[in-house]
Amino acid sequence: MFFSRSCATGSAASPFVPAEDDVFLVSYPRSGNTWLRFLLGNYLSGQKMDFFNVHAFMPDLDENPEAVKQLACHPRFIKTHSPFRPDLNNVIYLVRNGRDVAVSYYHFYIRTKKVPKNFTFAAFADAFAKGRVGYGLWNNHVESWLENPPSRFLLVRYEDVKAKPVDELVRICNFAKIKVDLPRLRSAVEASSFENMAKLDAAQPRRGIVPKEKNEMFVREGGTNYSSYFDEAMNAEFLKAHGAAMRRLGYL
Ligand code: A3P
Repeated sequence: MFFSRSCATGSAASPFVPAEDDVFLVSYPRSGNTWLRFLLGNYLSGQKMDFFNVHAFMPDLDENPEAVKQLACHPRFIKTHSPFRPDLNNVIYLVRNGRDVAVSYYHFYIRTKKVPKNFTFAAFADAFAKGRVGYGLWNNHVESWLENPPSRFLLVRYEDVKAKPVDELVRICNFAKIKVDLPRLRSAVEASSFENMAKLDAAQPRRGIVPKEKNEMFVREGGTNYSSYFDEAMNAEFLKAHGAAMRRLGYL
């Protein structure tokens, strides 16, 4: 049913209406959403995911609602960066240590030329702590979902996926009511490894972006090394805004 799924196209005319079995992959940007889609896509599709076909298999509701409407496979896996919205159920909410998110978002801003190359991390961290970045305050996003979890809600931590990807993928499959085939699942984890995704990322430049250095890659570091970016003052400022959400998620 779900392996080698052919997501044939349907009609694009109607507005998006969530189906009862839709599964939403929800996160604040730079929390590992693309990795999660590669993992599930490599597991379910019978194809090797890359940076083009992944959008066809698990499209972005905000960027490309038409592609979502055209998915004919079930359950549909749909990505969104939306803060809480009441019409979504079966939500897999992916979180990552907010300070690593800030570091990753900083490099993404430079990659996409939203800020100049010489923009300092200190200036970005200040903007991030005040919610003056694309998706606003990180803690508001996190808390919007944690305070209003839909009846079916699964919290997944990026760091746990890194530490035990197979276990986390099993948890996700169980939540999404998908058959668990361990050998196949291990292959999906391997195909979606940081190294493999970084190679694909380098081979598939997108949106006219040709990275000149590692920090400009989409699959950049995959790390948890925020401490080399945050000095004491930045840390204090960050925690003033985001401390409660960080504690709630077990990051403090
Ligand atoms: P870094 O910039 O810290 O490296 P998103 O897809 O939600 O925008 O998240 C992007 C982040 O996920 C980037 O973080 C990226 O490197 C990381 N990532 C992508 N693929 C990964 C993988 N296979 N393993 C670990 N991290 C990965």
